[in-house]
Amino acid sequence: MRKVALITGITGQDGSYLSELLLERDYEVHGVVRRASVFTTERIDHLYQDRHEPEVRFHLHYGDLLEPTSLRRIIGEVQPDEVYNLAAQSHVRTSFEQPVYTAQVVAIGTLHLLEAVCDYQRSSGRQVRFYQASSSEMYGKVLEIPQNELTPFYPRSPYACAKVQAYWQTINYREAYGLFACNGILFNHESPRRGETFVTRKITRAATRIKLGLQDTLYLGNLDARRDWGFAGDYVEAMWLMLQQPEPADFLIATGRCHSVRDFLTTAFRCLDLNWRDYVKFDARYLRPTEVDLLQGDASKAREVLGWEPKVMMPELCRMMIDADMSLAQRERTLVDAGHAVLVPSA
Ligand code: NAP
Ligand code: GDD
Repeated sequence: MRKVALITGITGQDGSYLSELLLERDYEVHGVVRRASVFTTERIDHLYQDRHEPEVRFHLHYGDLLEPTSLRRIIGEVQPDEVYNLAAQSHVRTSFEQPVYTAQVVAIGTLHLLEAVCDYQRSSGRQVRFYQASSSEMYGKVLEIPQNELTPFYPRSPYACAKVQAYWQTINYREAYGLFACNGILFNHESPRRGETFVTRKITRAATRIKLGLQDTLYLGNLDARRDWGFAGDYVEAMWLMLQQPEPADFLIATGRCHSVRDFLTTAFRCLDLNWRDYVKFDARYLRPTEVDLLQGDASKAREVLGWEPKVMMPELCRMMIDADMSLAQRERTLVDAGHAVLVPSA
């Protein structure tokens, strides 16, 4: 029997890579999409199938983590074997501007989904496996280096506090109701599909635009922050592996290496034979009221139990993002040379 997966956050970076992985493994994939006034499906457009095709394995449903009835309706229709909860207001800086909304989506939204999954399990008698997108951000003001699954949390943002609640709700549904539920504690993972307001993509986008004369300055905040950056394509494989185990458990996913924002800047600009110091200026708007200074994960458990290992490390990841953004910048350059105005990304 073909397995059925339901993904919340399917239009996001991870949702797109996970969809590709599951389709390659012959799943039927369903995704929850929020209605917006513009199309938000750019990252998954290449997976779209006309519903009149003979064998459609990729489906989208309108819904929202904040609307429990939509989640129940979708789960009832889709009858999933696996549910991946990737939806979130995932920007840490933004969570200081919108703390209540962030908590509602990240914490209460997860609770809505857990309730809907459990009720469906009870009424249908079918087992559902549940993945929760937990985050290294929960370690916050880190109490040990490197962090592992036993390191205590010390969240430093509304986003991280909400993720801690969702993490414990997931464990509680496992222990209270026997739900096959796993937390993946994923460290920062990036790709050419990364949102343009996260620091790595902001840097690769700006560096390539600077190289082609489309931009002259890049404004950034704290360059001393250190992160353990991996490739999103590698990390979605770990999500899938967690749900294929005989028993549910929580796993930390990281490369084990950490670099500063300054290191990433140096690597990115060097790919283009540029010196970032000639273009980068400080803007206090990008500082956070409370910062996470250093994240570095020890993924030994994932290596031993799941057989998972990262394949792409920061320098190759940075090069991959620069190459993809250079293609984008070249298209913009062509438009500008033909007399068209292009939107300058900010944030
Ligand atoms: P992302 O690119 O920001 O995608 C977030 C997704 O959530 C988008 O599809 C978004 O839809 C959707 N969403 C937001 N609010 C929603 C709501 N109320 N109802 C339904 N969908 C909603 O994030 P990502 O980088 O792919 O990360 C995936 C998950 O992993 C997130 O939960 C994130 O917090 C977590 N995480 C990420 C990292 C990382 O480094 N990337 C690390 C650890 C954990 P729209 O397209 O409509 O906005
Ligand atoms: N976004 C951004 N923009 N960050 C900047 C900037 C800037 O202009 N300048 C410096 N930084 C620093 C931030 O202060 C932070 O220390 C670091 O760069 C990384 O910021 P982000 O790329 O925004 O990611 P994040 O680490 O805050 O959060 C991401 O990773 C988490 C996992 O640890 C997000 O993907 C979260 O959703 C995820 O949970």
